[in-house]
Amino acid sequence: MKMISSLLGLCACTVALLTPPAARAQATPDEWWKHAVIYEIYPRSFQDTNHDGTGDLKGIEQRLDYLKELGIDAIWITPMYPSPQVDFGYDIKDYEAIDPQYGTMADFDNLMKAAKARNIRVIMDLVLNHTSDQHPWFLESRSSKTNPKRDWYIWRDGKNGGPPNNWQSWFGHSAWKLDPATGQYYYHYFYTEQPDLNWRNPEVRKAMYAALRFWLDKGVAGFRMDAVSRLFEDPDLHDDPYLPGYNAFGDRNIQHKYTDDLPEIHDVFKEVRALVDTYPGHPVLMSEADEPNIEALSKMYGAKGDETQLPMDFQIADANELSAGKFRKLFDEVETNPAGGWPEFFFSNHDQPRQWDRYGDGKHNDQIAKLMATLELTARGTPQMYYGEELGMRTTEPTRKEDVRDPEGITGWPKEKGRDGERTPMQWTPEPNSGFTGAEVKPWLPVPPSAKTVNVKSELADPGSILSFYKALLKLRHTEPALLEGNYKSVDKENAEVFSYLRCPKVGNCLLVALNMSSKTQAVHYDLKTEGIATTSGEIALANYRAEKVDLKQVEIPAFGAAVIRVR
Ligand code: GLC
Ligand code: CA
Repeated sequence: MKMISSLLGLCACTVALLTPPAARAQATPDEWWKHAVIYEIYPRSFQDTNHDGTGDLKGIEQRLDYLKELGIDAIWITPMYPSPQVDFGYDIKDYEAIDPQYGTMADFDNLMKAAKARNIRVIMDLVLNHTSDQHPWFLESRSSKTNPKRDWYIWRDGKNGGPPNNWQSWFGHSAWKLDPATGQYYYHYFYTEQPDLNWRNPEVRKAMYAALRFWLDKGVAGFRMDAVSRLFEDPDLHDDPYLPGYNAFGDRNIQHKYTDDLPEIHDVFKEVRALVDTYPGHPVLMSEADEPNIEALSKMYGAKGDETQLPMDFQIADANELSAGKFRKLFDEVETNPAGGWPEFFFSNHDQPRQWDRYGDGKHNDQIAKLMATLELTARGTPQMYYGEELGMRTTEPTRKEDVRDPEGITGWPKEKGRDGERTPMQWTPEPNSGFTGAEVKPWLPVPPSAKTVNVKSELADPGSILSFYKALLKLRHTEPALLEGNYKSVDKENAEVFSYLRCPKVGNCLLVALNMSSKTQAVHYDLKTEGIATTSGEIALANYRAEKVDLKQVEIPAFGAAVIRVR
């Protein structure tokens, strides 16, 4: 590993020499998000400043300089509103306040100011589908059948002594919970503590849109819309079809046919978009909807481009296989999506194991992490990073059931260990508790042992580290016209091991990106004449292996090698 590191150091230096001075092209102001790199922050785990073991808003503020230096344009902060924290913030009990665990509204305002001063935008999480069962709306709703807010949630009578139908919760077992106070069941797609709102009730929409305005008035740059494909359910309560087999919770597998992707979600998208469009600064909407294919994903942009600007691509996020053919297909598909929408992609987030392990082969994980970073930051679209991925942070799952914090991991143990593994504290330094919190404090999740070497401080000092590689890539991305404005075209399409694509701007160099997704050296012959590129030589702008000039007729790429090659 050490040797690779020192060789890679050379490559990172090459970048500085070859990159033209800050030539950052301007996206039209309303499309700032096309040039932005978005960084997801899980506030519990980023930086603890008051030493209670949980991250806070002041912590995020303190680390803005790090993010600026890294090359981040926008942060998406997962929910930090008041919450009983059953689903660690995704169970909200007040949409217009800050959870005292994370700080105060003044802390939030300071964070906004500090971010603005660094030209970093702040994107909030918007949980429309459900509230906490402790939200005053739900407390009222459950109090009696005649309460004016009864219809704000989905209440139904049981059937044959059981729940109204066979719908299942994402987190295991029935999606209905009997409430003894009125003898009716309420519906919850997620935890029982997260009752679904009734989006067919206009009062619900009004109340939620008021919350949106509250944050827009504070100058937020947009919203990541949580679980938005689940806003509506079949009013006739048809049973969902069963699929073969059982899931980790021991339930029969089911297709969420009647609770997912109902056409009415698009009415809500349009309303939310129309609302945010009335604000200055062109706020952006990102949708969390794990659509099964590109046609379904494409609908999220809206038939007239009037819904979400950045639907997250879960086909790419869930590829789960280091395969040139698979990634070529997925990136080609999103590039030519029927709506002509701008792609948004990511490899890690707070709901799935980190990419270092998920794509690593157990031997070349650091090299592969750099390869994945190259794909993420040179493809055409808006990349979304997850805190710590730039370090090669690992998934560190609990080893004992009694240590699990995510309820899903308790219900599903041992098959489903929940999501604690990808939510461990950010690793800032080699010291005990990694600079996330004081050495004497018990952090809400343990700091992984790998933090001794995998941390910001150590990696900044190592030119061959994953972090140094990310920095070089981000710099390239922000300065190369090919990466800012260039088109995308995959080339050498029959190659089963190496995924290659060209990024060509109207004016300036094209960049050829070559990603060897195999464990063997590959020799690639590029014939780019049909792409209007006459030259047969190229220069390495950045690579995760040692190389300078390349002969395009015979490019040798080592195992898991990634190269960004300047051509023409
Ligand atoms: C989204 C969030 C996840 C949460 C769920 C319910 O999928 O990303 O963390 O548990 O919605 O809000
Ligand atoms: Ca719902």
